Amino acid sequence: MPTILPLDSAGLDEAARLIRAGGLVAFPTETVYGLGADATNDTAVARIFEAKQRPNFNPLIVHTASTSEVWKYAADSRRAHALADAFWPGALTMVLPRRSNTKLSLLVSAGLPSVAIRVPAHGGARDLLRLSGRPIAAPSANRSGRISPTTAEHVAESLGDAVDLILDGGPCRIGVESTIIDVTGEHVVQLRPGGVPLEALEEAVGQSIEAADHAFSEEPGGDTPAPISPGLLSSHYAPRASVRLNAEKAQAGEVYLGFGPEEAGGDVNLSPTGDLREAAANLFAMLHRLDATGADAIAVAPIPETGLGRAINDRLRRAAAPRD
Ligand code: TXA
Ligand code: MG
Repeated sequence: MPTILPLDSAGLDEAARLIRAGGLVAFPTETVYGLGADATNDTAVARIFEAKQRPNFNPLIVHTASTSEVWKYAADSRRAHALADAFWPGALTMVLPRRSNTKLSLLVSAGLPSVAIRVPAHGGARDLLRLSGRPIAAPSANRSGRISPTTAEHVAESLGDAVDLILDGGPCRIGVESTIIDVTGEHVVQLRPGGVPLEALEEAVGQSIEAADHAFSEEPGGDTPAPISPGLLSSHYAPRASVRLNAEKAQAGEVYLGFGPEEAGGDVNLSPTGDLREAAANLFAMLHRLDATGADAIAVAPIPETGLGRAINDRLRRAAAPRD
């Protein structure tokens, strides 16, 4: 059984210490329990995907203690400020343009140029954010494909020992996930219905909001939205260079992304020891680095199709998919 502590000052201190040390802490928010990790720590974020047993790198929501902290990681706009003033702290997640050169892990947004951010209203969640001094990446604290947890017991049943600590703050007040809206384009688009009703959002932005049911569908069991077509987000996921998979070595004009001990040594290596968690933590930063060399093609070593390897391979297959 995982450790469960009540949401009091001792529990919060221990939770904040674990977050700073790269651990996984499940904590209550006003919507559902989140599975939290330091959003600036690649390895800690990789552990989230491992614990959820996700077969892909769905981007995660970053939680911050205050609205002003949000603009350190995401570009602001008049519209974003208006929505923030109206709904934060609260059950609204905004997908915003991601600032470059932030401390945020690239894995948090799965290599996308945007980042999903929320300032939660739950007192305990806010205390944890303040005490840890870190932005916290947190998907719902359930295994992939299961329903979202609204009590500490749900989390324990679903995640077991995969989580270092569960903070028990009782049942969640709202009980459904946050509403997610994409604020990166010309029009605001709702990506997932949730705790904040569409009508309230429309009133705040003064125009009607499109619901992107064509782009997202609920996973079985009511878990997070997932793209209907795996290729749908491929343009976002793809580096500029073409990608060749299962390559034993680089050919002329290619740079090599290695994995595990190799004699030749790659240009960069996801994990010289063959550790899939380390590989997941390095994946997006290394793809960016190889892309920045200006090479036409990236050849990638075979990655085992187990554990986090499934998510890594899913991402790499998208990157290697034929482009329009
Ligand atoms: O209420 C909630 O939102 C809870 C609590 C813990 O805050 N969190 C939550 O996270 O439901 P999660 O990971 O289960 O759902 C977040 C979803 C992802 O599955 C993804 O579809 C979407 O948010 N998302 C995250 N970043 C995105 C981005 N940059 N662009 C588009 N969608 C994004
Ligand atoms: Mg979820």
